[in-house]
Amino acid sequence: MRTAVLEAPHRRIVGRTVWHYDAVESTNDTAKEILESDVPEGLVVWADRQAAGRGRHGRAWASPPGGLYLSIVLRPKDVHAHVLGLLAGIPLIQALRHFGVLAALKWPNDAVYQGKKIAGILSEGVYRGDRYHVVLGVGVNTNVDVDKLPPDVRGRATSLKREVSLFVSNEEFIDYFLGKADDLYSRYTNTPVPILLRDYRGQCVTVGKRVSVATGRGTIVGRGYDIGPHGSLIVVDDAGARHEIVDGTVEHLD
Ligand code: BTN
Repeated sequence: MRTAVLEAPHRRIVGRTVWHYDAVESTNDTAKEILESDVPEGLVVWADRQAAGRGRHGRAWASPPGGLYLSIVLRPKDVHAHVLGLLAGIPLIQALRHFGVLAALKWPNDAVYQGKKIAGILSEGVYRGDRYHVVLGVGVNTNVDVDKLPPDVRGRATSLKREVSLFVSNEEFIDYFLGKADDLYSRYTNTPVPILLRDYRGQCVTVGKRVSVATGRGTIVGRGYDIGPHGSLIVVDDAGARHEIVDGTVEHLD
């Protein structure tokens, strides 16, 4: 059920209006449903709980109370769901650092701290008629007890609550994050993507690390070498061959 509509007219696009729900199946799904009603660009769907939170590649996203679950509706100038998913990592890292967790990005868009995942992004491109939208879903383990996460993710995850002694409310976190996301989206509207991706690259610890990347065409083991001009991960394998990876699941090996 929708419990509040929050307005922030000082923002340009992202987060000017936030619809707050107590519980939904998935904020990405709710955002897709309301696209029909011609909602303004930058609208945010924020829920306290999700019954069926989704991650990349059809994985589940555990969404206990205390975590932050939101989706942003965007109508970008180009078909850029992948790029926007990467760029959303920049304000996410800024917010995590602001609140005391020196997180970094694992390609494509996991926020990790000391090798453990603290937040993830699911970016989906959606057509309604001939109109293209991006629904940018962000899940952050803010006030989450890691011990209460499902056993298969518990050992690989952390939370703000675990890493920072000071209590950070979801209201404070979302406010800071949306402010930074709004700044970045304004830059996106008038800056070439390869330039913005330089900022992404600077936060992405996959570059320079030894990695194993599971792709639809097999697993590549080598070193993360660079981010391509459209956001691909470039890996040089142990035989010296260069691979440009557009979609895959990365494991850091060092
Ligand atoms: C991933 O790491 O695989 C991406 C996780 C994205 C989770 C968020 S929570 C809010 C939004 N709604 C969803 O169902 N998923 C995203």
